[in-house]
This record gives sequence, C-alpha cells and structure tokens, in this order.
Amino acid sequence: MSAIEFITKEQLEQHLLELDPESLVCRFGYPASKETIKRYVESIPETDLLFGIKVSITSERVASAVHLAINGKTAELGISTLPEFKRRGYGERVLRYGVDLLRNRGVTQIYSICMPDNSPLMALIRKLNITTVTSSYGQKEAMISIPMAGIDSILAELRNDRLIIIDSAMKPWAQLWERMLNIDTK
Ligand SMILES: CC(C)(COP(=O)(O)OP(=O)(O)OC[C@H]1O[C@@H](n2cnc3c(N)ncnc32)[C@H](O)[C@@H]1OP(=O)(O)O)[C@@H](O)C(=O)NCCC(=O)NCCS
Repeated sequence: MSAIEFITKEQLEQHLLELDPESLVCRFGYPASKETIKRYVESIPETDLLFGIKVSITSERVASAVHLAINGKTAELGISTLPEFKRRGYGERVLRYGVDLLRNRGVTQIYSICMPDNSPLMALIRKLNITTVTSSYGQKEAMISIPMAGIDSILAELRNDRLIIIDSAMKPWAQLWERMLNIDTK
C-alpha cells in the first residue's frame, strides 16, 4: 500500500485532464473544458492542500487526487479518481486522510460540489460515517460535518508520514526491478 503524498499543481492538472466527461461534471458541477481546468489549477493558492495516491511509487501519475481549500473552520473539497482506478479504495483512503488533516487543523465543516445523482460520492461519505447536510441550491452541494481532532486523526497523519519514508526508500529498488523486467508504469 503506497503512501498518500502531497502533489504539485502540474500533477493535479494532468490528473484532471485525464478524467472522463461524466467525472468532470461530478467534480466541477459542469463539463469543465481543458482551458477551464488549466485556469482552475493556476488559480489555486500555494496555501491550499493538494495530495493524492500515485499509480505506483515510481510514477508521477496521480490515480486519486484531493484539493482542500481551508478558510477558517470550513474547507472546500475537490476529489476525483481516474476511471481505470475507481472502486479500488483509493477515493476512500484520500478522503479519510483529508478529513484527518482537516480535523488536525481545526476545521469542522467541509463543503463539496455534489450533483443530485452522484451516488458514489454520497455512498463514500456515508461509509466514512460523517454527517452530511445537502444544501438547498438545487441540491448540487453538500456540507459535511467532521469531528474535532483526536488521537486517531493525529496518529493517522503520523502513520502516513512513515509510509512516505518507506516509499522513498523503496523507490530506487522498484525502479531497478522495473528496468530489469522492462515494465513501464508512467
Ligand atoms: C467519488 C469518487 C472520488 C470515489 O472514488 P473511488 O476511488 O472509486 O472510491 P473507492 O473505491 O474508495 O470507494 C469507496 C466507497 O465509495 C462508495 N462508492 C464508490 N464508487 C461507487 C459507485 N460507483 N457506486 C456506489 N458506491 C460507490 C462505496 O461505498 C465504496 O466502498 P465499497 O467499495 O466498500 O463499496 C469517484 O467516483 C470519482 O472520481 N467521481 C467523480 C468526481 C466526483 O464526483 N467528485 C466529488 C465532487 S468534488
């Protein structure tokens, strides 16, 4: 199981450009064009949190990505998984981690785009057992209440930090094996 890593804006942009049209509508609330995605990524302030799971420890391609914009006790969430990596538990892992990061930073409410027919997102939120109140704007948004920081959220962040160290130690070995076996994971 590879770590959840902070990612660059370029990596997020590449990830978003690989999403299928249906996922783009769910992610942005409308069919975002390439230009819109580029402008969106450009406008992300350096203070926002961008993280995800790469497709392998030797690849820069992001399978599942999260953008969190924190504003006081509220944060805006953007989450997506590439079509070929859906239903592998990646979205759940990055969202759980995001919730823990936010709890550890004093956030109590998460806002997200949530189209009325986005049953995967609603099922995912339900699985995390956190409270959702869908707001009234044509029900295209969700407000999610999260608990205060606890020893569980602090340990979750520390556990992932350890995984990052293990992944970076394993990376040269994985690259060596890939070269020997002629595997392309990019
Ligand atoms: C929502 C999304 C991020 C889930 O990512 P994912 O990596 O496929 O999710 P996981 O594999 O971790 O699934 C975790 C849980 O979510 C729920 N879930 C995910 N996809 C589902 C689907 N197609 N139907 C029903 N439930 C689903 C399930 O409860 C699942 O647990 P289970 O596999 O034990 O049943 C993904 O569907 C996506 O990218 N959607 C488009 C973008 C989007 O809607 N973003 C939200 C607004 S910003």
